[in-house]
Amino acid sequence: MLPDLATLRVNTGVTRAFQWSFAIFTLTVLIGLANASKIFGVLSRDTILTHVHSGTLGFITMAAFGLALWVFGGGASATSQRNVMISALATAAYILAFWSGNLPARAAFGAIELAVIVGWWWWIYTQVRAAGFSRLDIPRLSVFLAFTVLVVGSSLGVAMQVILATGTVVPTGIDVIGGHAVAQVSGYLVLMSVGIGEWRLRADRGARSRSGLTQTYLLFGGGLSAAVGVLLGIVPLLLVVNLFYVIAAAIFVVRSRTGVMRAAWGAAGGGRHFAIAVPFLVLNVALLTYLISKFAAAQGDPSAIPLGLIVGYDHTTFVGVLANVIFGSALTVSAADRRWPWADHAIFWLLNVGVLAFVGVLVIAGYESDLVRFTAPIMGIGALLGIATLSMRLSSTAAATPAAAPMRA
Ligand code: HEM
Ligand code: HEM
Repeated sequence: MLPDLATLRVNTGVTRAFQWSFAIFTLTVLIGLANASKIFGVLSRDTILTHVHSGTLGFITMAAFGLALWVFGGGASATSQRNVMISALATAAYILAFWSGNLPARAAFGAIELAVIVGWWWWIYTQVRAAGFSRLDIPRLSVFLAFTVLVVGSSLGVAMQVILATGTVVPTGIDVIGGHAVAQVSGYLVLMSVGIGEWRLRADRGARSRSGLTQTYLLFGGGLSAAVGVLLGIVPLLLVVNLFYVIAAAIFVVRSRTGVMRAAWGAAGGGRHFAIAVPFLVLNVALLTYLISKFAAAQGDPSAIPLGLIVGYDHTTFVGVLANVIFGSALTVSAADRRWPWADHAIFWLLNVGVLAFVGVLVIAGYESDLVRFTAPIMGIGALLGIATLSMRLSSTAAATPAAAPMRA
């Protein structure tokens, strides 16, 4: 029997996972700022990949471990707190391996990171099996399926590391990196954020329903099919997948509309962060549609897609959707500590105005635009302020803070 989503309590395992997530996110933001300002010139590919994976694995996935503990009622035992620490150390080691540029180290630490991810998947699976798969509510079903896609996407990532480390030649027409990136960004991350959105934005906290199930399975099937479509360059499959995303996003907008419309945009706390993630998800699906149309028009040639469009699409997911969901969650977890009350507003507006401007510049003016230099720092300062404020508040969060009800977070 899983704990009731209305009365869930957070504990040390959850707060620790968020603290690690924010500590590693500092590196992501600093590299992002260096990349935008070019104070160290043009960054190496190794440094860019460190930016990417400190963001996706360090920031987002460490927080996802905390969110999984939270929604499945774990994190209180010494074992789970130790597992959080082992996960953080393995993640940090893998990120450093990317920075080193050493291909065998990337392959070895990538395999360890995959083992950590499979361990988390297994723990979630045991909770799901004990509760009964057919009885899961939408948030917990989404988190379970999100981790399932994460295992698939990360396996492709490790396969790529081994290919690179051994100098194996990939047959033409097969895009392992593309398949990996799409499974993670369009599968794992979308399911994860929609699952948490269901919990925080709906009055029934995402109770099991036909529309919720349709939305979840469209995103799950869509994420996996998109990965296969890009891996093997099957353009018609991507067009069908696009339709899945549009329908799933429309269902989610309808399901979360009351929570979004009732959001107190001027009030501190987590509520508005969850609410604004919904329009960012819509923007994300719109950009995905545009991206797939370009890919299809070029008969599956990825080089025909403007880089600015890809990087813009990426940051709507990473920052517009995920950073809002994670900051909203951390604000909810640390709700008992309201130090630096002014910071809540600065974080919310800088992060969101910043990411919107950054994405707008990338999509409209392109990857090489000079304006990136001015827009990235707005988002970066919002993120750094969020890291400082939330790390401080989380460190003083009592061992058992009740999770506030939706919309009062
Ligand atoms: C979870 C967080 C983040 C992730 C996963 C992420 C990921 C990425 C990815 C995949 C790229 C494309 C790399 C390439 O050129 O191949 C990129 C580029 C970039 N990112 Fe991030 N990013 C994140 C947050 C940020 C933040 C907070 C900033 C702000 C300081 C930022 C600033 C940049 C800049 C300036 C570029 C290069 C854009 C250009 O030169 O046009 N990123 N990032
Ligand atoms: C064990 C986990 C992971 C492994 C082994 C892994 C491995 C890799 C590898 C080998 C590459 C290509 C590097 C290169 O071009 O030399 C890559 C790129 C990429 N990965 Fe991962 N990754 C992992 C997790 C993730 C996650 C969780 C995400 C997103 C949520 C992600 C998103 C990406 C993206 C967007 C790129 C393309 C970056 C670019 O070309 O700018 N990865 N990853």
